[in-house]
Amino acid sequence: MGVSGSGKTTIGFELAGRLKIPFYDADDFHPQANVDKMTAGIALNDEDRGPWLALLAQEIAGWNNNNGAVLACSALKRTYRDTLCSVSNAVEFIYLEATESLIRQRFSQRDDHYMPGTLIKSQFDTLEPPETAITVQIDQSVNEIADEIITSITMEKINNKVANAADIGVVGLGVMGTSLARNLANNELKVAVINPPIAGEEYITEKIAQQFPEAKFIASTNYQAFVESLSKPPTILLMVKSGAPVDSVIDELLPYLPADSILIDGGNSHYPDTQRRAAYLQQKGILFVGMGVSGGEEGALKGPAMMPGGNSKAKSKILSLFTPIAAKANDGSPCIRWIGAEGSGHFVKMLHNGLEYADMQVIAELYDVMKRVYGLDNEKIANVFEKINAGDLESYLLSITIDILRHQEKGTYTLDEILDVAGQKGTGKWTVEAALKYGVAVPTISAAVEARILSGINHNLMVNSTLQHKYKSFTEVEIDKFKEALEVAKILTYEQGFSLIKSASDAHGWQVNMKELVATWRGGCIIRAKMLEPMMTALTDNHSGSLLADEYFNSKILTQKSSLNSIVEQALAHEVPVPALSSALNYLLTLAASQLPVNLIQAQRDYFGAHTYEKKNEPRGTFYHTDWSK
Ligand code: 6PG
Repeated sequence: MGVSGSGKTTIGFELAGRLKIPFYDADDFHPQANVDKMTAGIALNDEDRGPWLALLAQEIAGWNNNNGAVLACSALKRTYRDTLCSVSNAVEFIYLEATESLIRQRFSQRDDHYMPGTLIKSQFDTLEPPETAITVQIDQSVNEIADEIITSITMEKINNKVANAADIGVVGLGVMGTSLARNLANNELKVAVINPPIAGEEYITEKIAQQFPEAKFIASTNYQAFVESLSKPPTILLMVKSGAPVDSVIDELLPYLPADSILIDGGNSHYPDTQRRAAYLQQKGILFVGMGVSGGEEGALKGPAMMPGGNSKAKSKILSLFTPIAAKANDGSPCIRWIGAEGSGHFVKMLHNGLEYADMQVIAELYDVMKRVYGLDNEKIANVFEKINAGDLESYLLSITIDILRHQEKGTYTLDEILDVAGQKGTGKWTVEAALKYGVAVPTISAAVEARILSGINHNLMVNSTLQHKYKSFTEVEIDKFKEALEVAKILTYEQGFSLIKSASDAHGWQVNMKELVATWRGGCIIRAKMLEPMMTALTDNHSGSLLADEYFNSKILTQKSSLNSIVEQALAHEVPVPALSSALNYLLTLAASQLPVNLIQAQRDYFGAHTYEKKNEPRGTFYHTDWSK
């Protein structure tokens, strides 16, 4: 910042080069009306500057989500600077200080700027010098000025670190908590850690600190010391088991937390619990955020996808702390977005898991059909999946499936040794419960959850069919069928999931931006897949959140649905259960039907309960009743 002619562009460009971040000139963001006014020699007033500064604030937040940038902007008044920081406050001001006579002298030597020298006085009249900015005199060479700024930035960082202690604290040193803490430390943050100090387990914190000396954790064994080791107001990430442990850690921490402390629950908490905790903590002056974190141990350590939602006052702090550790999508954008108000972050993470269940079940069913209808062995099935795992269908879950199918120990396929009973920790069931609550159909997610439930009961009671070993022959055509069936089932599953997010978002006023949410799933998380890219485009284009209304996906469904049909038909003919695939097919058939049989249901309801019905070719909302006994 500084008056016109103080060298903001030259110095800003030099700094951006040294810091390896982009450079922007605020002048390039002026609306034409402002440019015309300045060219005509008329000084801009606050009304002219307001929208321009607000636009810059938005831009700054975007840059901060992506490693930051250097912006050359006069920012002469304190209110202008406040506006610039209004969306993301992670802004460091560098003030290029100059005397009026030096600026006049510089302007008399240049003719390449639309700001005439006559406006210099108005610049100095407007200027309110900043109190806290890094201030550098401009009567030196570009190199000297840049050197001084870089040193000041570094010194400032060092001073802050010494004075403010840890940037963030992590409670809960299980696999995910430890990995996230290490990831934060690897990104030059000072991290304080504590495992919940349960009697007999106090040693865990110290053990983790010793196990990872390079992280330089500040380890504490009681909550008071832990909070004292943090910069104020503290920011604390809870990585404890969802449910009651989250409540007890919150209650034990609370006595030590000053107002405006930020508490982030990074576990897989149920969203109504998050909403309850947010309301409770708001009364205590604590900013609570529920953050969905996906990617398992490896993701947590090397780059997870993160979905924070909660008290908006915590937004910029959270984005500035976690953006550097997020996974990067193919286009380099970090897989983290602010989702919305309380509960929204955990809701979309729950939904992510519902989609994860469905993706996994569909893949498992295709594996079963290849094995039991076509008699393929693990190696051949892996080869088929390898061919399918390309283009839009390339995904993390298909890749790990291929590895799993090929994995052998002592000459035996590990997969063949695994008991066919699937576990679950609850997020899939919660998704289905939420779907019922908001009246949205998610049949493929339901089928996936139910398939896990059914796997737990004795499923070998019935005598198996004689059809079992009548294998069909497997050709290249079949590979295409499997690919197309998978693609159609996946589009239909995500359509169900997106409908549920939209309904919940509308019900709670979260205003979840579907396109941005899908953007966070492109890297780091379990459901990361190439298909999310065209899904983003579809969601941008029609703003309806419906993939079926999008030409690209609509035509894929129309041209490929016969493959899903064929796989389901073959599976059922061979008595191979395909609940997820058939649910997707039935979902499609229902949505595509020109006439559903529920006219009969309406008639039955009216017959036994006089519930009335509406008629075809009549305006909706006109209800009829028939006396069915006559
Ligand atoms: C993730 C995963 C993660 C966990 C699942 C497992 O996004 O990293 O979803 O959160 O692995 O919750 O869930 P189940 O145990 O219910 O299969």
